[in-house]
Amino acid sequence: MPASVTVNEVTATDADAIAIFMFEDDDRVFRENPEIETARARTEWTGEKNNLVETFRTQDGREQRIFLLGLGNTLDFEPHILHDVAATLGKRLDATKDSRVSLDIVGLDTPNARHYGRIIGESLSLLTWDGKTLPGTVTKATEKPEIILSSGDVQFDNHLRDGIALGTSINFARTLSQTPPNIATPLYMAEQARQLALDTGLDCRVIEGEELITERLEGLITVGKASENPPCLIRLAYTPERTTNTAPVVIIGKTITYDTGGLSLKVNNGMVGMKRDKDGGCAVLGAMHAIATTLQPNVPVIGLLVAAENSVSNNSMRPDDVITYRNGVTVEITNTDAEGRLVLADALCWACEVEQAASIIDFATLTGGVVVALGSTFAGLFCDDDELRAALETASEESGERIWRLPLHAEYREMLKSPVADIVNSNPNRKAHPIQGAAFLEHFVEEGTPWAHIDIAGVHSVDADTGAFIKGPTGWGVRLIAAWLREIG
Ligand code: BES
Ligand code: ZN
Ligand code: ZN
Repeated sequence: MPASVTVNEVTATDADAIAIFMFEDDDRVFRENPEIETARARTEWTGEKNNLVETFRTQDGREQRIFLLGLGNTLDFEPHILHDVAATLGKRLDATKDSRVSLDIVGLDTPNARHYGRIIGESLSLLTWDGKTLPGTVTKATEKPEIILSSGDVQFDNHLRDGIALGTSINFARTLSQTPPNIATPLYMAEQARQLALDTGLDCRVIEGEELITERLEGLITVGKASENPPCLIRLAYTPERTTNTAPVVIIGKTITYDTGGLSLKVNNGMVGMKRDKDGGCAVLGAMHAIATTLQPNVPVIGLLVAAENSVSNNSMRPDDVITYRNGVTVEITNTDAEGRLVLADALCWACEVEQAASIIDFATLTGGVVVALGSTFAGLFCDDDELRAALETASEESGERIWRLPLHAEYREMLKSPVADIVNSNPNRKAHPIQGAAFLEHFVEEGTPWAHIDIAGVHSVDADTGAFIKGPTGWGVRLIAAWLREIG
């Protein structure tokens, strides 16, 4: 795949290749662009999404490749289609080794140019991520093209740059997700956050050791105590340049650096891939990167990562243990594998009490049940605040990261009643278990604070190459947060 993608001056005359995006039902005749008409006259042209027709033209004695890329019908169009089509282009460029690319945007709608530019830039930027974050002495470096592109339109080129920048933030999240659990421990994640803060001017605070006790972060202490890699709460703060006295929005990420299940051990190799149980936290770090470097919204944003390793030792939490949270809620642990909610509870209490959050969104690879229900097509959204939900749904449509609402209801909270404490962390009856997770978390959000829980267990990674993503982490959440902040900030 391409090594890099940048926007710089490339004209239709000096480009190695010209890429033209075209809707299937665009029936205009392009007299000034004879190459469009030539390509459209080819029998391979169907105009369907991902349809790619290649022709050549000679310009000043040099051969230029022409790519005509189908977008399907205008009425069926969704942002992810252009995302996939741009990936098709990027993969083809990798094969042809064309480097200087001129984008012909005559087939794209100008009112939507903002979105389109971003989508193309982001998709190409995602393609540059190859997943080999730790090459050793055996892997041979391959030669990869450096793509330089321009549409010739200043505005559109700026949107391309925005998209590329967001892609960089998403790739940062993907790299963290990919980092193995023997390296990416809770304190490693803290170190990454500190470095990000140093590089970008964010404020970073890490609560660890004794301070976890004084701050009564009982979930982190309990989940993290079996591991020799100690737990921590990581707090990143962004303050807008024009400081306002408004309450911050808080984004929270489940950051379990490895989930063995604890004493309720995962069996039958069910723990393979559980290094990615930190992907909620990776998305929050990726989003904070985007916020500090490119988005710079007008609202203060706090990122909280609840980082711990759910391990097994003689110091493990046990099924039957009872813990007391800082908001007074007591929890009987019935299943040590439902550890995500135990640490998220600390962050939710903290967001309400310490940060006085204006709104809260948490991202968590919380349940296998949501994968069964929604697959890798939608993340599960739990949010009873109409305004926040509407904003998230708009952001979802714009970003292409799909969310589907699942219910919260008092009856689900009933399922969590404990005979010895207020609530259990999981009902042994696995009915509706993604909703049980959300119902558990509800106990730690102050009445009146708009809150959304997003279960990303099905979408945080893909198990085969799809569009701009290779098999592995997707950095899911960064795009949704970015689109949400663009809307509210
Ligand atoms: N990290 C897992 C959930 C998960 C499963 C993430 C598959 C990604 C892919 C979580 O901590 C867990 O183990 N959940 C249990 C909850 C149950 C004990 C209520 C599950 O889903 O089985
Ligand atoms: Zn678990
Ligand atoms: Zn987990």
